[in-house]
Amino acid sequence: MNEIRTLSRRRVLTGAAALGGLGAMRSLGMATVPSVPDRVNIAFIGIGNYGANNLKELAAENIVAICDVDWRTRSQLSGRFTPASETAAAHPEAKRLDDWRVMLEKMDKRIDAVVVCTADHVHAQAALTAMKMGKHVYCEKPLAATVQEARAMAHMAERHPRQATQTGIVGHASEDVRLIVEWVRAGAIGTVEKIDVFQTDWAAGQRYINPYSDTEKMDVDLVVPEEVKWDLFLGPAPVRKYNPMYLPLRWRNWQDFGTGILGDHGPHFLDPVVWALELGYPETIEGDADAGYSEAIARQMFARVSHVNYRFPAKGGRPPVTLKWWGYDTPPVPPGWKKDQPLPTGGGILYGTKGVLVYGPVYSSKPGEQKQIWLLPEELDRSFQRPEKSIERPQSHWTEWIDAARHGRQPSCNWNYGAHITELCLLGNIAIAHHGTKLRFDGEQKKFLNSDTANAMFTRPRRKGWELPV
Ligand SMILES: NC(=O)c1ccc[n+]([C@@H]2O[C@H](COP(=O)([O-])OP(=O)(O)OC[C@H]3O[C@@H](n4cnc5c(N)ncnc54)[C@H](O)[C@@H]3O)[C@@H](O)[C@H]2O)c1
Repeated sequence: MNEIRTLSRRRVLTGAAALGGLGAMRSLGMATVPSVPDRVNIAFIGIGNYGANNLKELAAENIVAICDVDWRTRSQLSGRFTPASETAAAHPEAKRLDDWRVMLEKMDKRIDAVVVCTADHVHAQAALTAMKMGKHVYCEKPLAATVQEARAMAHMAERHPRQATQTGIVGHASEDVRLIVEWVRAGAIGTVEKIDVFQTDWAAGQRYINPYSDTEKMDVDLVVPEEVKWDLFLGPAPVRKYNPMYLPLRWRNWQDFGTGILGDHGPHFLDPVVWALELGYPETIEGDADAGYSEAIARQMFARVSHVNYRFPAKGGRPPVTLKWWGYDTPPVPPGWKKDQPLPTGGGILYGTKGVLVYGPVYSSKPGEQKQIWLLPEELDRSFQRPEKSIERPQSHWTEWIDAARHGRQPSCNWNYGAHITELCLLGNIAIAHHGTKLRFDGEQKKFLNSDTANAMFTRPRRKGWELPV
């Protein structure tokens, strides 16, 4: 048995039994057991592109196994992209496999923790399987491709509080996001009633998003390159013909594989406001899409340009909040914004009774480093008394997960939280698919009140043999 799992179990027997559960231990500040000096044995599922980045961030641990389904070399691929073959070549110590199910089964005893960084439609199945096997799991955002999957992940994390679950919303650990939460809570801009959250970087988006006309290429017969394990890429998705228009990267805008622009960028940019204002379920959601987004296209792809209006009910002492998502469209520039500079290409704008808070791509600021937040007008920025820092500052999102695994606890962006943000994005996608109808949502029953077709979109058909482990 490995060191990490031994420690986790020991905690269960000592701390939790003595103090009456994790909540009690946390509130008494006793969640620190002497840290484990040994390195954590990690297996990676999906190591191209962002998976290579995750691996780099966790390179101080033991990389015991790596798994991917596309072993083409850089010369066989085009664009700015780290191929899995290069990541694997840099880690000859790690066992290399194609099928994550085989990897988990064959190497079970050597694996403490798993990182999932595949296309979105595989996240939940791989991550839940690893959890059921007792691993700590870091799963990329969005955690899941369907509402049903997201809820299953939250439920799994609740049942296994000693297995550290992390959601790849990397900015959650950043100084910027933590400052936003502290400042909004301290009333920096007064009462917040309206928010814009946006992703406008269309130049970057074109690397990921296929034109609608690509739906016409779906039936073209092409030879699958030897290095591509197409059936494994499909995983739970229905069988379709191979085409390079899906991978790498471009699976994002296809219904069977991705979660669209909202699923891709929404988790990052919703995070600060969901956290600061404790946004639960909305009471209404209304989406729209660009004129080219026909019913036939919508069966295959997500919209290229879209908006979603969410209305969140009053909670605690705060009034209702309206939040508008702008997917590849630019929100109005707030009063007081610097005339000589455009808005950031992704982020949010909070309108309060005393001022405005703008944030950009809040991915990466280190502890103590403010990079992507602006208070408007300038006078407010000058006069606002910054509150004492009240939220912990981890070194990084990845080290926070490793620390949590060592101590048998949940990090701050665990699946309970990550599944909620994921679900907000997926509900937004359902609203975009129902553009023209204002959907009413019941947060108690967790379903739409006025659309059976919207509720039916909580799940997707799964291929036989790829059922969701719950
Ligand atoms: N946290 C962030 O800031 C951030 C940034 C970029 C991407 N992401 C997330 O990371 C994930 C991957 O995105 P990407 O841009 O790296 O995509 P990508 O297509 O470039 O890379 C995905 C990798 O996973 C592999 N893969 C796909 N299916 C697999 C399977 N069944 N088993 C094993 N490997 C498989 C692919 O071959 C590829 O190497 C997505 O969920 C995305 O949302 C997160």
